[in-house]
Amino acid sequence: MTIDVKLKAVIDRFDFPGHMIECAEIKTGHINRTYRLRFAQDGGPARDYVLQRINNYVFKKPAEVMENVRLVTEHISRAMAARGIDPENRVLRLVPVKGGGAMVEDGEGGFWRAYDFIKHAHTIDRIKHPGQFRQIGAAFGQFQSMLSDFPIHRLHDTIPHFHDTRKRLGDFERSVQLDVAGRACTVREEIEFIRRRGPAMCRIVEMIEAGEIPLRVTHNDTKINNVMLDADTGEALCVIDLDTVMPGSVLYDFGDAIRYGASTAAEDETDLSRVALDIDLFAAFSDGFIAATAARLTGTELYSLPLGALVMTYENGLRFLADYLDGDIYYRIERPAHNLDRARCQGRLLADMEQKRAEMDGIVREQVRRWGKNIGL
Ligand SMILES: Nc1ncnc2c1ncn2[C@@H]1O[C@H](COP(=O)(O)OP(=O)(O)O)[C@@H](O)[C@H]1O
Ligand SMILES: [Mg+2]
Repeated sequence: MTIDVKLKAVIDRFDFPGHMIECAEIKTGHINRTYRLRFAQDGGPARDYVLQRINNYVFKKPAEVMENVRLVTEHISRAMAARGIDPENRVLRLVPVKGGGAMVEDGEGGFWRAYDFIKHAHTIDRIKHPGQFRQIGAAFGQFQSMLSDFPIHRLHDTIPHFHDTRKRLGDFERSVQLDVAGRACTVREEIEFIRRRGPAMCRIVEMIEAGEIPLRVTHNDTKINNVMLDADTGEALCVIDLDTVMPGSVLYDFGDAIRYGASTAAEDETDLSRVALDIDLFAAFSDGFIAATAARLTGTELYSLPLGALVMTYENGLRFLADYLDGDIYYRIERPAHNLDRARCQGRLLADMEQKRAEMDGIVREQVRRWGKNIGL
């Protein structure tokens, strides 16, 4: 086994039991550098771990990110144990650093952490059937459920104003006014589409401000590939990729999962006739999510879940269009009008959700009634 000396120096600072016999990079992630490490112990079975370099381009305050991850994983682990669920393989567990803490700085500006390896599991990038998406919904629902009594003031707001729709709209208007790339006159219709919906789409922010819905721990990256599924049964085992856990609304997590996972087309599809909300996928995710959360979330939260899907789709469309107006400085593009294509695609998806809103609301109402009743609400 040949291994980079710098990587070896990082590994040596963690309190792994035994001696390392394997180190291989995992290439399925997009943001962080991730390695699988195998350690052998005298007399005992070998154990696997993952070692990850935190992306400190995206995360400017790695210590706060790590503190959030530690608090959340420890809370989930305790909550599972209290409810008679063995947390082993079902929640991330940080490996301690020798001498204390859970993060290693490599002297070159890089920050590292290690977790127990989630065994016998994999992630998927595409949903093959609604049952899979129901499992993903159940995993994120379970995550919320275990954190429903988390003391939210203890979490750091590591990316301030992340889902502040009102602020995002203000930034958007500034991009329209500045018009640095001279593109505003070519996208009048798209700008109006965003403006017309502004007041309705600020509803979640208003509900939080008015105390109608509480701040909770939100994952903020509820993509399909951030849930590890059992390799044989497909059952959801563990939610991963916790770097963006922050105070927020449960509607954001639900909504972004739907926006990303229940669309019939890719985020940048140019044939807009192919872009729609797959209502069966919506119902499947929602069923798993509500089954796990009906007893823990408030009625207002549960009945507002569909609004989350609309707002997250709106917010993404708005950000893509703003970046197009800014001259493509934030999102990586692969073709000249890539951000405009993305914005139009989100707009089409949002318009389809608006058409299907009554149906979405009906599905959620029925599921809340069904799952609420079963658990004695
Ligand atoms: N604790 C773990 N056990 C097993 N595999 C893991 C674990 N954490 C991450 N992985 C694997 O590494 C990949 C990338 O990890 P993730 O935390 O999602 O980072 P990224 O931000 O790069 O998506 C995942 O898709 C998964 O396959
Ligand atoms: Mg990930």
